[in-house]
Amino acid sequence: MNKLSIVANLKSYKTESEAKEWLEKLKTGLNNEDFIKEKELIVCPSYTLLHQFKTFFSENNLNIKLGGQNISQFSEGAYTGEVNAKQVKEFADYTLIGHSERRTHFNEDDDILSQKIKLARENGLNTIFCVQGSDAFVPEGVNILAYEPVFAIGSGNPDTPDNADNVARELLEKHSGISILYGGSVTSENVNSFVSKENISGVLVGGASLEAEELIQIVKNA
Ligand code: PGA
Repeated sequence: MNKLSIVANLKSYKTESEAKEWLEKLKTGLNNEDFIKEKELIVCPSYTLLHQFKTFFSENNLNIKLGGQNISQFSEGAYTGEVNAKQVKEFADYTLIGHSERRTHFNEDDDILSQKIKLARENGLNTIFCVQGSDAFVPEGVNILAYEPVFAIGSGNPDTPDNADNVARELLEKHSGISILYGGSVTSENVNSFVSKENISGVLVGGASLEAEELIQIVKNA
């Protein structure tokens, strides 16, 4: 991952019609613009929207990658309500794993997260693994790490760029060959202060990505 990465986590937001409006705005803002060529934009919508997003990006020749927000800890089988890695891979090249909201609300622990990383890898998905600090457990085979301190998520209170860079450096010392993203209250106003740091290769954006115009501005300013 050499290009700067902007990962948009749409969380559990947007119906099909809301997504259509968002996609149209994104297309208008990004089409034929040079700034997108130097950056990699990865959008992670809900499972129900993956087909719509994939079709839209391909029909409009938009060079935007897709990611899932999660995968099942199980392969295909009798697991009602689950969406497995093989199913996500039909639409996406990436998946988030271990977001703090998954850890907190769905009790995902290190064993479960290791299993998810293994299944993602076996099915050809690149993994963006979220951690809250440099001492965090990181399963074998993770491709990208996102440092997301819980206090900064959705709070409007981001970590300082200096501290985020320090954590990123410590993570790189422990896990060589992995790219590090920063996430937590990233906006178009502060994005550059993070991505200009030596050890930070991109950002993971939640709330601010829900407005297409703001996401475009983040990509532009990064
Ligand atoms: P936020 O969320 O940008 O709304 O703080 C980041 C995330 O949860 O990945």
